[in-house]
Order: sequence, then C-alpha cells, then structure tokens
Amino acid sequence: MKKILIVNGSKRKNGNSYALEKVACEKLNGKADVITFNIGEKDVKVCQACDGCKRQHTPNCVIKDDFTALIPEMDKCDAMLILAPVHWDQFPAQLKAVLDRTYSFMDFSQQDFSMASRKDKKLGGYFFAGFGPVDVYTNMVETNLKSFATAGFRQYMAHVAGNANVPGSIMEKADDLKAFDDMIAWLIA
Ligand SMILES: Cc1cc2nc3c(=O)[nH]c(=O)nc-3n(C[C@H](O)[C@H](O)[C@H](O)COP(=O)(O)O)c2cc1C
Repeated sequence: MKKILIVNGSKRKNGNSYALEKVACEKLNGKADVITFNIGEKDVKVCQACDGCKRQHTPNCVIKDDFTALIPEMDKCDAMLILAPVHWDQFPAQLKAVLDRTYSFMDFSQQDFSMASRKDKKLGGYFFAGFGPVDVYTNMVETNLKSFATAGFRQYMAHVAGNANVPGSIMEKADDLKAFDDMIAWLIA
C-alpha cells in the first residue's frame, strides 16, 4: 500500500482544510497508509538559517521540535497532500515554516541539490481562499509547491477552491470536490 502523508496548514478546526482531511482519510481507508500532520496543533519553529543542517549531511534539522518527526515521514512517503488556506495572498505562516525547514534536505554537493532518499514523490496542494483571484492563487501555490522538490517531491498538482470563507462550505461545492477526488486518485495511482 502507498504511504500518504497529509499535512494540514489550517488553524480552523471546523474549517475547510479539516473537512477535506476527514474526507481524504475516509477515501483512503484500506487503499493507503495515511499519516496526518496538523501543523496548527504542532510546534514548528521557523528556520534559523543557521546552516547547522548543512554540517550534518542528513536531512535532519538541528532545531528539535515537532518538525523533527516529520522529516522521516516526508522522506519515506509515496505522496504528500497539503490542505491549507490562502492567507494574505500567500502560504499561511505555519505552512511556510514547514517549507522553509525543508531546507534541511538541501545538499549543495549534489547536482540536483537534494539529499532526499526518494525523489519520485508526488505532491498535491489543495488550498482554500475566501475570495480570490483563484487563478493568481493557483500560480502562487504552484510556485511554492516547486520548492518541495528539494525534499524529493518532483511531481505536483495544485487546486485552489475559491469562495470558501464559511467553515465547511467546501462540502457544497461539487466542482471543487471533483477536483479533490481527482487529486486523491492521482496521488495513489
Ligand atoms: C489571516 C487571514 C488572511 C486571509 N487572506 C486571504 C486572502 O488573501 N485571500 C482570500 O481569498 N482569502 C483570505 N483569507 C480567507 C481564507 O483563505 C478562507 O477563509 C479559507 O477558506 C480558510 O480555510 P480553512 O477553513 O481551511 O482554514 C484569509 C483568512 C485569514 C484568517
């Protein structure tokens, strides 16, 4: 069975990221080994840019917090699904902290700058926006997803669901739910 890591970047426990995390767990039940990491409930400090990781030649970060346990899960999974809101036209800060910390996977001695043990992993980024513009946010999400290549996620798929301010409102959006189904199917294919 494929191993799927779900990273939830929302602080709203009754919100849309959590609603689709539940749906994903139900859909993947019996089809994949699922591990969830809800950043909003974790302690993930910001990257100190100390280059401590560059001196140990492993993907480990010298900061010891909840990101420590996430590193091997990111390294060994088959695919990662990120569920998160757009905050001020960007990744929410807590998710950006996770992305920045994947700098620990960077290896300047490698041609592809990566010391990930697997470099064939898939990444789905499913985001929620209260308003829009959804096309601009999709470009923003894709730009950020590309940076996860250093951690071995070389293929990505992005979707932004707009008009999603009301907690749980995603469950009434047929087109966005279809896009979610397609993303899940691609991640486990
Ligand atoms: C601090 C903050 C900033 C936000 N910035 C934007 C924004 O720039 N554009 C937008 O469309 N929605 C914005 N929103 C609305 C959220 O993206 C929207 O409510 C989303 O559905 C929340 O997802 P969640 O329920 O998974 O947390 C913002 C919300 C917060 C709390």
